[in-house]
Amino acid sequence: MKNIKLIFAGVLFTLSASFIGILLSGRVQLGSLGRAPAEEGGPLFPPREPGLAIQGRQVYISLGCVACHTQQVRPASQGNDIAKGYGPRHSVARDYVLQPSVLLGSHRIGPDLANYGARVSSENEIHSHLRSPKAGSAMPSYAFLYTTGKDGSVVPTEKATALVAYLKSLKIDYSSPEAKLNQ
Ligand code: HEC
Repeated sequence: MKNIKLIFAGVLFTLSASFIGILLSGRVQLGSLGRAPAEEGGPLFPPREPGLAIQGRQVYISLGCVACHTQQVRPASQGNDIAKGYGPRHSVARDYVLQPSVLLGSHRIGPDLANYGARVSSENEIHSHLRSPKAGSAMPSYAFLYTTGKDGSVVPTEKATALVAYLKSLKIDYSSPEAKLNQ
């Protein structure tokens, strides 16, 4: 075969061009996406995460919560997430632009948490859920994040406090140019 080198170069070129194309297409489509005001002249959304929530995100990652929980509300045409009360609108790419590591998740053993901070009533509710999920729940207990005080009371560790701050910060409470609230 006289042209073996040429054929080989052609195959290599095709493979590398498509590989680079896949890598670049995301950046071309979404690379310039930034925060946007929900209304004319309003504050920019999504808001920055409070410092404690940033630490809590690391705890969430290290404990592997993403294995069972998603953080993405699907459009009404693609599932019943909105009907189930997972969020007031579907998630859009802009929701994640400030996140250093996007925790979309791929398995939903437990409920979606994208808007959990808006539906939970108190920090205590989150702490007691983490310590002892309801009987029969597939969710493991994270009681090791708590210690017992001298008077026998339950004391959350720094990790538990940060994790709860992170969970409380998960809210879809702003319209985005791509998806308005409750539409
Ligand atoms: C093995 C799967 C699994 C893992 C791992 C897991 N969960 Fe869960 N989670 C569930 C299931 C199932 C439920 C629903 C039943 C219940 O409420 O216990 C749930 C419920 C929840 C809820 C209540 C959601 C709501 O809408 O009421 C929160 C908050 C939560 N999990 C947070 C976490 C956090 C934080 C972690 C990591 C520290 C975690 N989960 C790890 C399975 C899991």
